[in-house]
Amino acid sequence: MSVDTVATNRRMNRFADHAQVWLFGYGSLIYKVDFPYIERRPACIRHWVRRFWQGSHDHRGTPDAPGRVVTLIPEQDATCIGMAYLIAPAVFAQLDVREKNGYLRFATELHLGEGLCAEGLVYIATEENAAFLGPASEPEIARHIAASSGPSGPNRDYLLQLAAALRELDAHDPHVFEIEQHLIDLIARERGAGHR
Ligand code: SIN
Repeated sequence: MSVDTVATNRRMNRFADHAQVWLFGYGSLIYKVDFPYIERRPACIRHWVRRFWQGSHDHRGTPDAPGRVVTLIPEQDATCIGMAYLIAPAVFAQLDVREKNGYLRFATELHLGEGLCAEGLVYIATEENAAFLGPASEPEIARHIAASSGPSGPNRDYLLQLAAALRELDAHDPHVFEIEQHLIDLIARERGAGHR
């Protein structure tokens, strides 16, 4: 079964008649900004938690050996901190291709700081998509990430860059930081083994 969401997202025409749309990024969209934007600012969305539960066939893994990347999972009391970008609706054509491996556009309320709120869009890979991997322990996820690589580079770079970007945003994310610590320990052990 194909996981390609480009056609479905293209039919999502909410905000298509707006001059500008807010996009909420919580994963690679925080630190890899290869699209034009008008303005950006730290933001959060409510009732979602970031988890390394999505398989990556096209960026940080392959269809035969998927990597692990983040998606959002509904959780009543959670708040997810990320980066909001004000973009022209035409930019979604390019973002749909980048996020095609299972991510669908959802409309959500963004909290933009200073009491400002706006409706916008976020890409979420739900558990119905064929690339969804689901939960695993943080040490297991770290081992999986350490062993994966894809056309966009090693899966470990995705994790390390995301963790660094979250620190810059002052966003404490125990799930991401715990996986990062396990990965750092694994890398240190790999290096130690190499020197023996
Ligand atoms: C996002 O960053 O908002 C979506 C997931 C990703 O591209 O890593």
